[in-house]
Amino acid sequence: MARFEDPQHELFKAINTSLQFDQRLYPEDIEGSIAHAEMLASRHIIGADDLEEIKGGLALVKKELDAGSFVFNDDDEDIHMAIERRLTELVGDAGAKLHTARSRNDQVATDVSLYTRRRAIAAGEKIVRLMTALNDAAKSHRDWPMPGYTHLQRAQSVYLGHHLLAYFWMFRRDHTRFVAVVDAASALPLGAGALAGANFDTDREMVADKLGFASVAPNSMDAVANRDFVLDYLSAAAICATHLSRLGAEIVLWSSEEFGFCEVADGFASGSSLMPQKKNPDAAELLRGKAPRVLASLTTLHGVMHGLPLTYNKDMQEDKEALFDAVDTLELCLDAAAGMLEGIVFNRDRMADAAGDQMLAAVDIADLLVRKGVPFREAHGIVGSLVRHAVEQGIRLSEIGDDDLNGFSDKLGDDYRALLSDGGWIESKQSQGGTSSASLDVQFERAADALQACR
Ligand code: ARG
Repeated sequence: MARFEDPQHELFKAINTSLQFDQRLYPEDIEGSIAHAEMLASRHIIGADDLEEIKGGLALVKKELDAGSFVFNDDDEDIHMAIERRLTELVGDAGAKLHTARSRNDQVATDVSLYTRRRAIAAGEKIVRLMTALNDAAKSHRDWPMPGYTHLQRAQSVYLGHHLLAYFWMFRRDHTRFVAVVDAASALPLGAGALAGANFDTDREMVADKLGFASVAPNSMDAVANRDFVLDYLSAAAICATHLSRLGAEIVLWSSEEFGFCEVADGFASGSSLMPQKKNPDAAELLRGKAPRVLASLTTLHGVMHGLPLTYNKDMQEDKEALFDAVDTLELCLDAAAGMLEGIVFNRDRMADAAGDQMLAAVDIADLLVRKGVPFREAHGIVGSLVRHAVEQGIRLSEIGDDDLNGFSDKLGDDYRALLSDGGWIESKQSQGGTSSASLDVQFERAADALQACR
């Protein structure tokens, strides 16, 4: 660089370079350069012959990068400079014209938004696969009773299909968030120049069109200073990873001998180096364990961006590793979660045994009293006493004798015994969004519509 007399210090190079991680942006960088060059030629800012040379040269550069034969220089600070340097080696002057009316500031913002848009679309597709796996598993277990929990204490019985669909809806919301990320990454930064715009009569609409951007960023300063779309991706990813961690955590719990509700396929489990009997649900544990790392990427970028004066600051180079790590982590977790669910086996008997716990019918008994005119609060108290009595005596609720029962309430008789014996307290949850088969049928229809809308 002509401005400098002395070479860069090794330590400066070490802290300043981003090449080792921003290499992955080369497809986006080359696409952006081709669109930019086509625009320059169409506005006669460079010649048609220059454009041909640039396109031919960039195709060669891409070939080298694809093949892994591209030779980086010690002076290649980032992928943008490396590509331009190589292009100029290959085609000379035409290559040196490519950076006309462009800065690395609008260039990198464009590359990152192209990349973010693509990864958001990919995340959406992976989420759809996971939603499909959940929906399928929910369908094939639609009438398998199990306890639902609050505070990890048995609360009320539900169908496994209902429980699995709870996750389906979480991921459906994640899908919506990634669709919004695509939108956030759809205003073209290129053409903003370093910060103030360009000294040439450029055609930004044309570039937007070629690169698939829905619009042109309206303010050159905002265009180069903006990384909101990365924050949006990371925020959507962090929430999605949190959902995956809850799914993973439940599968870990359910896989334990104590629960015995499910078993992951051999392909998704590991053994122990010492204990021959072990089958560990590692993938599920890692869904749980990797979530904070995605959140860390989000907090990293908030930290980088907060308080930054306009416009571009080198701090912003720190957006990339956070983004890339989140992309890699989330995409792997989504694929692994879907793969694991596709082969998981549930244990109907263990779940049914647990769901047969009559204590899970406590609310249903209270509601029986409510139907007979007892105010709910009072009914709650009566059933509480019944439960305490049963616990103290070490008996089931159905084993409480008629006399004792009468002592708690004269309104509990045959219907109390019928309720406990037919176990019908799942099917009575007929409210919209409830766990009864009838409500679940409606929910499956809505899930099918949601899947359709996501695809
Ligand atoms: N490697 C830089 C980044 O990732 C590219 C932009 C450099 N711009 C500059 N003015 N130095 O942010």
